Amino acid sequence: GKDKELIRGSWESLGKNKVPHGVIMFSRLFELDPTLLSLFQYNTNCGSTQDCLSSPEFLEHVTKVMLVIDAAVSHLDDLHSLEEFLLNLGKKHQAVGVNTQSFAVVGESLLYMLQCSLGQAYTAPLRQAWLNMYSIVVAAMSRGWTE
Ligand code: HEM
Repeated sequence: GKDKELIRGSWESLGKNKVPHGVIMFSRLFELDPTLLSLFQYNTNCGSTQDCLSSPEFLEHVTKVMLVIDAAVSHLDDLHSLEEFLLNLGKKHQAVGVNTQSFAVVGESLLYMLQCSLGQAYTAPLRQAWLNMYSIVVAAMSRGWTE
């Protein structure tokens, strides 16, 4: 319905430029929660936001995140087909020390990036459509967390 049209329409241009948009999203994430920087422990330690944002491994992660969003947008009609993948992705994030509570801040950062990139096209219904899709993705990933 309307949600899907809004999401697809807005992703059309953003999805062609994944890395810059992902960098806006993660810059915002580190602004909102700088402790998340320490979870990216590549060879080149992510000591500061600038170190992190310029490390190739980190930019690869940004690409990976954007590809998952891209997959969700492409599977809006059958998001459940991604459940197994997202559950395993959740497991991997528990293993690297991410808390499920951090997904709220990730969601805020995603919305921030959309707002920056879409300008006037960022409307309340569009925001809600993205939140709905994001919450399905987060719910599926969160099932990967075990006690
Ligand atoms: C892997 C951290 C959010 C998608 C990883 C890795 C780390 C990490 C340390 C392993 C190293 C690497 O592959 O670069 C984080 C942190 C997050 C976050 C701190 C936010 C709090 C997300 C989100 C998505 C995502 C929201 C997608 C929706 C991926 C993917 C991988 C990955 C696809 C590769 C998994 C694999 O190796 O199969 N993440 N991540 N990450 N992350 Fe994240």
